[in-house]
This record gives sequence, structure tokens and C-alpha cells, in this order.
Amino acid sequence: MTNSGAGLSRRAFLGAGAALGGLVLLGPTRTGQARAAAPFEPTRTVTLGAGETELKLLGPDGPATRILAYDGVPFQTLRVPRGTRLKAEFVNGLDEGSTLHFHGIRMPNEFDGVPTLTQPLVQPGGRFTYLLPLDDPGTFFFHPHCDETGQAGKGLAGVLVVEDPRDPAFDAEHVLCLKDWRLAEDGSFLPLTEPDGASKAGTFGATRTVNGAASVELTAPAGGHARLRILNLDSTRIMDIGVEGGEAEGFEAWLIAVDGHALKPVRLDDLPDGIWRMGPAQRIDLDVRMPADGGTVTVGDYRASDIYHFAAIRTEGQAAKPRKGPLALPKPELPRPDMKKAARFSFTLQQATDAAVKNLALPADDPLAKALIDSLCVGSTTYWGIDAESWPAGNRRNLPPPLARMTTGRSCRVEIRNETRFPHPVHLHGHAFEVVSSSLDRLPRHFADTVLVQPGEAVEIAFVAAPGDWAFHCHILEHMETGMMGWFRIV
Ligand code: C2O
Ligand code: CU
Repeated sequence: MTNSGAGLSRRAFLGAGAALGGLVLLGPTRTGQARAAAPFEPTRTVTLGAGETELKLLGPDGPATRILAYDGVPFQTLRVPRGTRLKAEFVNGLDEGSTLHFHGIRMPNEFDGVPTLTQPLVQPGGRFTYLLPLDDPGTFFFHPHCDETGQAGKGLAGVLVVEDPRDPAFDAEHVLCLKDWRLAEDGSFLPLTEPDGASKAGTFGATRTVNGAASVELTAPAGGHARLRILNLDSTRIMDIGVEGGEAEGFEAWLIAVDGHALKPVRLDDLPDGIWRMGPAQRIDLDVRMPADGGTVTVGDYRASDIYHFAAIRTEGQAAKPRKGPLALPKPELPRPDMKKAARFSFTLQQATDAAVKNLALPADDPLAKALIDSLCVGSTTYWGIDAESWPAGNRRNLPPPLARMTTGRSCRVEIRNETRFPHPVHLHGHAFEVVSSSLDRLPRHFADTVLVQPGEAVEIAFVAAPGDWAFHCHILEHMETGMMGWFRIV
């Protein structure tokens, strides 16, 4: 075993103990970090303790599974009004390092929760306080940003709903968290990642759930408008969300927000195939107008031939004052990129060829090897890259250089080209970007924080750059952990 690429001797490296990740990797990222400008006065304080809890995922009579959750509540939902100053104290009750990342939230970089890039890994028993200004209304979520296939794969995630008092009043509202699980018959976990999955479409779970159950029965008044907040919290699966109301009089469904951000309502029937395709981490809000004279509406994932109907909404009672709809949400108040003056970038998503598949080549039982892999929060193999860079950078066992340097306040247009055979939901931290165009021409223009890029497709996104070191990665967790992750330095 030679010295690590970071230039520390083996002894110094091991001696660094808990501070290891910080010592080795934080150095180059210290500059250019944004600090919260105004003093932060929390208006809501929560503690989020990561730990184990039990859930009967194989049905009420089946065995219980030891899943992971915050505060013992699977997919717990925090609801706060827009403008909230959230102080979230993370307590790591796991037996490995973790952090908390509030996905899709525009925030000071130092609270973004990406180990080695914005903060040191929080060790078992450790704490970290996140201070988050929640100025954008919408459907968001939070999750760990280390060993995500292991931690998020076992259920560690929560929902953050930022309510806008200006929203139209819906007659019903339901939050639906979709996630599959890889379970053995006795309820224990099967391996959450396998090379064949990680290097291809991902390792799928066979036990499909919504809010931890096989399906849910919901209600909404006849003729009323139900708001559905649907989150794809799966590690791997891409879903085609559709709604059916049979021939029922009055039934209609509109897409009213993507990744929390309002768009001009689109009838689901007017979208290609009548569905919205949603990769891991993506969310939608739907406005479902219920049949006027009773009946049931079903919501499902139509991607596989074996349709997964995960929710049935029964009519119950009568809407007090029927409205035609759609019930549009107020326009998002987000910085709008200037398309003419924008700086341009282009990145290519790539699959490493056999020769380029990099292995950190560290024996798994070597404590130095384990410490390195833990501190980088990655798997030991690289199958993917963005512009031929992978995270970590192969045998250098260190952060790759930033994919791009951008200027704070500057408009940026970023083209994402997918040269692989698989779709990738690509996420940029700390921003809401506009999805401007797709070479396959299948998307309405909208704001988002994650965009699904199909094989052979080029998608253009645009945003106003916010200061910080921001991760940019595929949200199929095995892809991000095997190389499809990079970062932008914005100063
Ligand atoms: Cu959901 Cu890097 O994030
Ligand atoms: Cu991917």
C-alpha cells in the first residue's frame, strides 16, 4: 500500500480519525464558499434524528423490516409556511457517517449537506445544524448525502412541504411517496446494489410501495379538486405517472407543478402518452377534478406492462362550490435566466468503457481503504462519468476538479447530452433551473431541480448562478456513487 493521493502518510491518514474526510478533502473547497449574509432568526426549529425503525412492508401479516427513518417516522412530512427560517438539527443515530441534504432548496452553500464539498461527514453520534431560508413554495424532500444506496435505499428520507398562503384552496390534498424495496421473504434487505445494476439501469426493488403500503385508498369530494403531491423517492426506478377516471362525468387531471415549482397547468391527456415521466428525486403536483356524481379515480405508474395502481381516490361527499379548474398555482418567483446574455456550457453523460472502468483497487478489509471510501461516500468502482471525469477521480482518490467555474449572478445555459443507453435524472444543487428545450422535444418549458435526460437526448437548462460549490449528479443513486457526479464552482 502506498501513500494516498492526498499526500499524507499512511500513519497520519489513519491518525486523523474522525476528522479524516475534512482533513483530506475539505482543503481545496474552503475558498469560494458562500456564507449566510443576514443574521438568521429561526422561525421553526426541528430535530431530525436518523435511526432504525420497523415497518411491515410485506403486508400487515408479514414480517417487519428494520428500515431507516428520521425520528422513527417513515417519510415524515414537515409542513411549513413559505418564508419560514428553518433550523434543522441533524443527529446521526446510524452506525456510519451521514449528512442531511434538503433537495431542491435554494440556500447558502454551507448548509447543502454534501460531505467533502460543503461540510465534513457527520460521524455516528454527531450533530450538524442546518439553517435554511424557505422562500420557494412547493413539494420538496430531504435525504442523506452519503452511502445513499444504503441509507436512502433503506428508506431514509422525509418530505418538506412549503405552503404558499396564496395557493387556491383545494377540496382535498394528499402526499404520495413512492419507493420500492429490495426484500427477502423474511423481510430483511437483499443487497441494495449489484454490479450489473450499478453499471446499467440500476438495481431494482420488487416490493413497490406508496407511503410504505402496497397501495392507498384516499377520498375527495365529488366534483371537487384534489391536490396530489407525488414524490419519486426510489433509488432507481423511473415512473410514468398517469391518472384514470373512466368515463366519469367531470373527471380531469392537470399537471400544476414540477419539483415544487408551478407551471401553467397542462392536461395530463395533452402530454405524450398521457403521463408524466418521473425519475428518482423528481416530484409533481397534480390537480385532479373528481367526477361530479361519484366514482373512483386511480393513480398509477404505467411504465411497465404490469401497471402499478398505487392510489385509489373515492368520492366522498360533495364539493361545496364546484369550480371548473384547473386550479393554477401562483407563478414561481425565481430568478429568470437571460437567455441572450447567458454563458454556455455543455456536459456529456458517459458510460465508462470496459477499459475505463476504474477500480479504486483497495482491498475491502484494509482500514485505510475503508476510510477512504467512507470519506468519499462512494462505491469502490467507477462505471460512469460526466465529460470523462468521475467522482472520485479514479486512482487519485480525491475530488475531481470542478466541471465548470461560473460567476455569481450570471445567467448560464447548460446543455446535458446523454451518450449512454440509459435515462439519467440529472440534479443540480442549490438552484431552480428552467428546462428550456429537449432535442426530443417532449417537455413543456418549466422550472425544476432535476431533469430526466433520455438516451441520445440533449436537454438544455438555464439558471442564474448562485454562489457556492454545488453538486451536479445523476439521481439514480448507484450511478452517482459509481461516478456520475461532479460539481460547479460558482464565485
Ligand atoms: Cu437529492 Cu445531491 O441530491
Ligand atoms: Cu444515471
